[in-house]
Amino acid sequence: MRGEGVYLWDAGGNKYLDLAGSAAVNFIGHGVKEIPAAMAEQAAQLEFVHSSQFTTPVAEEYAKELLAFAGRNFEGGAVYFTSGGSESIETALKLARQYQVEIGQPRRYQVLSRKRSYHGSTLGALSVSGNKRRREIYLPMVREFPHIGMPYCYRCAFDCADGCRNCGQQYAAELEHAVEFTNGEAAAFIFEPVSGATLGAVVPPPGYLQSIAEICRRHSLLLIADEVMTGMGRTGRNFAVEHWDAKPGDVKPDILVTAKGLSSGYAPLGAVIASKKVVDAIAAGSGAFLHGFTYNAHPISLAAGRAVLRHLRAKNLVEAADSGRSGTPAASFKNALETLREEKSVGDVRGIGLLWAVEFVTDKKTKGPFPPDQGFSARVGAAAQKRGLLVYPMQGSVDGISGDHFLLAPPAVITQDQIAWSVHQLSSAIRECEQ
Ligand SMILES: Cc1ncc(COP(=O)(O)O)c(C=O)c1O
Repeated sequence: MRGEGVYLWDAGGNKYLDLAGSAAVNFIGHGVKEIPAAMAEQAAQLEFVHSSQFTTPVAEEYAKELLAFAGRNFEGGAVYFTSGGSESIETALKLARQYQVEIGQPRRYQVLSRKRSYHGSTLGALSVSGNKRRREIYLPMVREFPHIGMPYCYRCAFDCADGCRNCGQQYAAELEHAVEFTNGEAAAFIFEPVSGATLGAVVPPPGYLQSIAEICRRHSLLLIADEVMTGMGRTGRNFAVEHWDAKPGDVKPDILVTAKGLSSGYAPLGAVIASKKVVDAIAAGSGAFLHGFTYNAHPISLAAGRAVLRHLRAKNLVEAADSGRSGTPAASFKNALETLREEKSVGDVRGIGLLWAVEFVTDKKTKGPFPPDQGFSARVGAAAQKRGLLVYPMQGSVDGISGDHFLLAPPAVITQDQIAWSVHQLSSAIRECEQ
């Protein structure tokens, strides 16, 4: 196999346009030569040391660059490097718990989260996730904390007709009730700023995340933003929370978690970015975070991540992924995807930046889903693949089992012609499966 730009070639030489970004991982494009060159240079110099014994120049420099990329909210903070998204989520959950213990709140340990979210496949991450299919059989093994509903405007639980402009507050109020229910045991709240694969690129309504952040502040819960999928430029901001962080008092997470686009897939890498408040609490308390993986801060992965960050900045790829800025690939993508609404089975097209989803229905008026055993989104995915186009099919958006959609997250180097070709292939694949 090989890859270049938005294209992949399989072992048989068949060419595919990677419109899924390989599960929303690849942001800078495949085959960018300077990334493996940076990795090789690091490997030749030093392949690995254990982080309990040494820090490395690449870790120190990259952490500084990443903190700066995360913005003013993380000034004076620290970065904890792992090998991927789930490891980073585990790290963030434990960090939130230790923070509460360090500040003299040992009763606080519960991490509240949202239904139909996805935070990873390890048991701690599954416990805060809401993806029914991915967690159901493991439920006896996980500790359950309250999960609240989330605004999913296409199928609003309050049946509103204004894109959840007002009911965002009602959804946020669920957090207030859940915190009260924990009776002083809540340590943190974790959320995806824009939902990932489970619901498919659902963007929160105005005011919702600000209310969530305000409730967390008022009840002294840490706010953890899971930006494994949405971070590092994917939504047209360095981190997606910045869409709702315009004014003081807005959404300011205490902990940011990122992976996927962090290394764009060139090496296994995740990061937990902790604010000064969290870092200071541990520094002033026990002085050490009680946690660790052998491959924390692996120098070769960090060399890849640092080269990816420098590359995406040099090429202005965050701007390219801004769907609100005219003339960008993301703006063209958004406009082109809108045309899919003409297809008989397309109920919703939603997203932001370069993270989009198309949801399928049997009837646009009733929004009735396809019977899950028909595997409609998987069939559209297979039909698209036959045409040389890769998408990320998912099921369960309606009730955890039924509801078909696919996720689209192309590399930010996609061109107008490639977008036009992809959307044409998508509509043909959808029509073929509607027959
Ligand atoms: C929002 C979110 N959090 C966490 C994860 C888990 O990341 P990983 O698969 O790298 O362990 C994912 C993976 O899809 C994700 O989308």
